[in-house]
Parts: sequence; structure tokens; C-alpha cells
Amino acid sequence: MATDPAALYLDPLKKTLAFLLWPEPPVPLAWSRRQGRWPKRLVATALCGLVKPFGLQPALAKTPTAAQREEGQIWPGYADTMIGLKRLDNIQHCVETALAEGIAGDLIETGVWRGGGCIFMRGILAAHGVTDRKVFVADSFAGLPPPDPRRYPADAGDQHHCHDILAVSREQVATNFAKYGLLDDQVVFLAGWFKDTLPRAPLGQLAVLRLDGDMYGSTLDALVPLYPRLSQGGFCIVDDYALPGCRQAVDDYRAEHGITAALHEVDWTGRYWRKP
Ligand SMILES: C[S@@+](CC[C@H](N)C(=O)[O-])C[C@H]1O[C@@H](n2cnc3c(N)ncnc32)[C@H](O)[C@@H]1O
Repeated sequence: MATDPAALYLDPLKKTLAFLLWPEPPVPLAWSRRQGRWPKRLVATALCGLVKPFGLQPALAKTPTAAQREEGQIWPGYADTMIGLKRLDNIQHCVETALAEGIAGDLIETGVWRGGGCIFMRGILAAHGVTDRKVFVADSFAGLPPPDPRRYPADAGDQHHCHDILAVSREQVATNFAKYGLLDDQVVFLAGWFKDTLPRAPLGQLAVLRLDGDMYGSTLDALVPLYPRLSQGGFCIVDDYALPGCRQAVDDYRAEHGITAALHEVDWTGRYWRKP
């Protein structure tokens, strides 16, 4: 059992953000009315309408395994993050090491969804009484962009932009921070497409750069303006190395800039390296 007060707060915070203290509940079928192919949406709408007068709400049972949930292999119905426990542990390792070693700079995640990864970063700062570092929360707050194969051929045919579940509003993310008592002026929202917001964001040095934009373009649009801001000894975390587009973007950027620092494995998709 943890005895250190910071760990006593951060351990349950992680599990709460990942919704791992409870079984994965069924998801209301009403959510499917805006998602998936039209036959599914039509059936969902009809079924919801049929039972509504009786005060009933149909729901879809989800049956992920405990391992799939813990390892962040599903898009969860209720969790505030989809990245699973090992990648949350990795955020804690990187941020706490940066604090302990005095690596200068703020923390940023590019691609936040419901905000859980950033909420956890803010929680780590709070647990250690850090008041002079910020957490930057960068997202379109409208889901992923359609692929731009002329600029980024590796993204041709990418379907991420079709998934409404990946579009979470800025208001919802702010509400999620507030739920945990972690919304304050150490949290800075950067709303818009990375290619527009990140090159002119009011950023100084970074100690931790966490990339979670899934696509080739979204990964590179963050790496290009932000990696030069990463302090020596700072951490560059990649959430989506299992996705071919993201992997290629990371490999291309590292090759082009002669980055040979070891790429450490976090789990089946997470990787990180330290800037030499
Ligand atoms: C897989 S989710 C991030 C998961 C999140 N880190 C977590 O803790 O659960 C990907 C996010 O990246 C955002 N995104 C992807 N590409 C983007 C881009 N080019 N510009 C802005 N936001 C983008 C999407 O809106 C979505 O919220």
C-alpha cells in the first residue's frame, strides 16, 4: 500500500479517470443515433422512440475484458481518458522525473479527447505543490480533421474524422477538469487544428510533450512546432505508435532530425524518449 500522500491521491485519481474502479456500464443506445452507418442509426432511433413512452432507455452491453480496459484498448463509454493505466503511469513517471530533476518547462498534450491525460498532469502538479508550471490542453474540441493526402499521403483513407465519439467540446473538457477540482489558471486551452494553433501558441519551454493525435498529419503538426521547445532532458511521449500513420510520422521526424535517443516501450502502443 502506498504511504506517500502524493501517491495516495494520484493512484485513485488515475483509476477514477480511467473508470477502472467500476465495471464498464452499458452505453445508452441513444448515443448510437449520431454514430456509425445509417442502418445502425435508423434502428437505434426507431428503438429509442418505441420504448420512450414507457420510461425505458435501451442500452448496449459492452463486454471488454479487464485487460482491454486496463491497457486502454477500447473507446470507453464513461472514462475521462482512453489511454489505460500503463500510459497514465508513464505520464506520472515523466512528470515526476522532470520535477525531481528540475527539467524546465510546462506540460502539453496534443489530442486530449475528454481531457483525462491532462487532468492527470494537473493533478500531479497539485500533488507536488507545483504552482509555476502550466498544463496546455491542445485539441480541435471537434474531433479529428479529414485526411489531407496531398500534404500527408500516409493519411489517405483515414476514417478517424467519421467518429463522433472522438469530438468532445471544450466546455465538456473544462467541466471534466472542474469535476476533479483541477480547473484553474495553470490550465491553458489551445482550441483549433494543431496546424493553426501550435505554431503561434503562447508557449515557452516544455518539460513534457505528449502526442495523441492518432494520424500522421496530427502527429507531425504537433512535433514540428513543439519539439524544438522541449528542454534538454525533457520527455516526448507518443500515444499512438501502434497506428501506422503516427508511427511513420515519429520515425520520419526522428530520422530527419537525427534523433537516435532510445524509444522506450510503455505498452502495446505507448512510447517515449528523452531529448538528449
Ligand atoms: C485519441 S483522442 C486523445 C485521447 C486522450 N489523450 C485521452 O487521454 O483519452 C485524439 C484527440 O486528438 C484530437 N485531434 C486529432 N488530430 C487533431 C488535429 N490535427 N488538430 C486538433 N485536434 C486533433 C481529437 O479531437 C481527439 O480529441
